[in-house]
Amino acid sequence: MSGSTRKNEHKVVFKPEGKTVSIGPDGSVLEACQMAGIQIDAVCGGEGKCGRCKITPQGRFSATKSALLTEDEVKGGVTLACLTRAEGDLVVEVLPRSRLGRHQILTKSVEEVPRPLSPWVWKRLLDLPPATIADNIADLERLLRVLKDKTLSVPLETLRELPGAIRKGNWRVTVTGSELGQARELVRVEPGDSHGRLLGIAVDIGTTTIVVELVDLLTGDVLATASDYNRQISRGEDVIARMMHSEEKGVEELTSLARATINSCIESLLAKESMRSGVSLSADDIVAASVAGNTIMTHFFVGLSTGHVRLEPYVPVAHHLPEPRGGDVGMLMNPAGRVLLFPSRAGYVGGDVVADVLASGMHRSGKLSLLIDVGTNGEIVLGGKDWMVSCSCSAGPAFEGAEVSSGMRAMDGAIDRIRINDDLSTSYHVIGENAPMGICGSGLIDLVSEMFSHGIIDRKARIQEVGGEKTRPSDSGHEFVVERRQKLGKSASSDLVVTDADLQNLLRTKAAIYGACAVLLRKTGESLDDLSRINIAGGFGYHLDIERAITIGMFPDVPREKYGFIGNGALGGARLALLSRKRRKEALEIFERMTYLELSVDNEFYNEFSSSLFIPHTNLSQFPSAGKGRPSN
Ligand code: FES
Repeated sequence: MSGSTRKNEHKVVFKPEGKTVSIGPDGSVLEACQMAGIQIDAVCGGEGKCGRCKITPQGRFSATKSALLTEDEVKGGVTLACLTRAEGDLVVEVLPRSRLGRHQILTKSVEEVPRPLSPWVWKRLLDLPPATIADNIADLERLLRVLKDKTLSVPLETLRELPGAIRKGNWRVTVTGSELGQARELVRVEPGDSHGRLLGIAVDIGTTTIVVELVDLLTGDVLATASDYNRQISRGEDVIARMMHSEEKGVEELTSLARATINSCIESLLAKESMRSGVSLSADDIVAASVAGNTIMTHFFVGLSTGHVRLEPYVPVAHHLPEPRGGDVGMLMNPAGRVLLFPSRAGYVGGDVVADVLASGMHRSGKLSLLIDVGTNGEIVLGGKDWMVSCSCSAGPAFEGAEVSSGMRAMDGAIDRIRINDDLSTSYHVIGENAPMGICGSGLIDLVSEMFSHGIIDRKARIQEVGGEKTRPSDSGHEFVVERRQKLGKSASSDLVVTDADLQNLLRTKAAIYGACAVLLRKTGESLDDLSRINIAGGFGYHLDIERAITIGMFPDVPREKYGFIGNGALGGARLALLSRKRRKEALEIFERMTYLELSVDNEFYNEFSSSLFIPHTNLSQFPSAGKGRPSN
């Protein structure tokens, strides 16, 4: 990017990409990575606390020492990007494990196409009588006269394109109207006949990833899907870190990072569909958008402060945000087109959960259902058509790779399936079929379940002495060797292990999820036997092995046929509301009907959580089938 550097600036060249940027003396190499578009793991957002952003810089630099680096790494010239500053030009390599590789992003969601289709946008082909000296009313009034609708409001953006479009089309135009909530308006006038094309986008703004679908609103078909890491990741892994970042530096940066991710997805969708259809599409062709995200992501997207969501009593600016125009929120779409934002129930039960429920259909069922969405956070909804109650529990970081020494996201190099053999060796599958670099959430659940079944851990998840070299003492108690260093990727500096401390983090995470399910059932006077269906939503849920999640006591032990997967429910729900006014109305009804239970101050939750800090549970009668074959201790 920089051919020449300004005074006091230094060139940083990233290998092997060869990308070059310039940074000043105060800028860290982490910032240089972000400027260069190098996707680096920076879980703590540059605080020097996570130890993920490992690089090998060459040239003149200063690097603050970190206890998070091993002796071997320090000897090998490894530093943390966020703690390294250039004092001259640098050549930098990011360690393979610190790169955010191709992520296993869940783009699958419900395939239901709501019939009849009733999107809130429509098109009409109009033939206008040409203006004459005898009939010289203004262009807009002429158009509305033919449309026979004088109640539509017309934004200035639309008015500006009106005279040109009418004459270019030789008095034949296609108009696009939008009827979302109270707003009835004319959002577009195109010359000629284009009424066979009506496009919208459905967006899932996740904390880790963003997925966008280009949807044909006339057929209900998904024309193309694009996804990417949420670029906000460079400002912190989880919502708490990002809220703190925004409190310190302002919300604008996070807003523009989310929008930049969405817009780059839209660019790629337009390019894909233009290529496929042979019609050159532009952003103006997208006239409606439906967006579902958690409360914090939605606030950042529209540029609202989250300062009061983070602290007790966890209050968002608004649960139900007004529908902005595309132009108001910097979206790459028709600036006059409206954007539907899914309403959030609470600070930690957002529009994505409302969309999950909509996609699952549980709000229409007369039977009792449970919905579990485990992402960076865990959200649970219990109920049916008459009532619904929701809650949120801190669940995700361990399963997203944080707080576990060998943990990593579900991306290339992650073990996502693992078995322990009778001789305690391991067999596993690695995403991308490469040498393993770490273990992602589904692999960790497999591992805990397998270690329990083989008696390597007891019911409190403490590692036992099992003889041989598979378990050994470590700084935090004991550790189990999953794989030897020699079989790992080139950059590995030690064996791949899981420690007692890791297992306690995983135990707390699974206990929070089961405890939340149990407390909802208890407070509503329902039991596990009353459940007719358990909907599992989200990417992590989609990839995990249900049987093993039950074995460790994370999910309820009910007949397996009651379990169903809705995939990316936030995306599916957003699409349903885009295609059907009825479904959009249902989304609002879900929001109004769903109550929220705050677990952080709930004693019953604490009791349920404590009882769940065992594998599978203190009360084995709750896990009649999961307990088979477990160690007796
Ligand atoms: Fe550098 Fe966390 S230690 S980003």
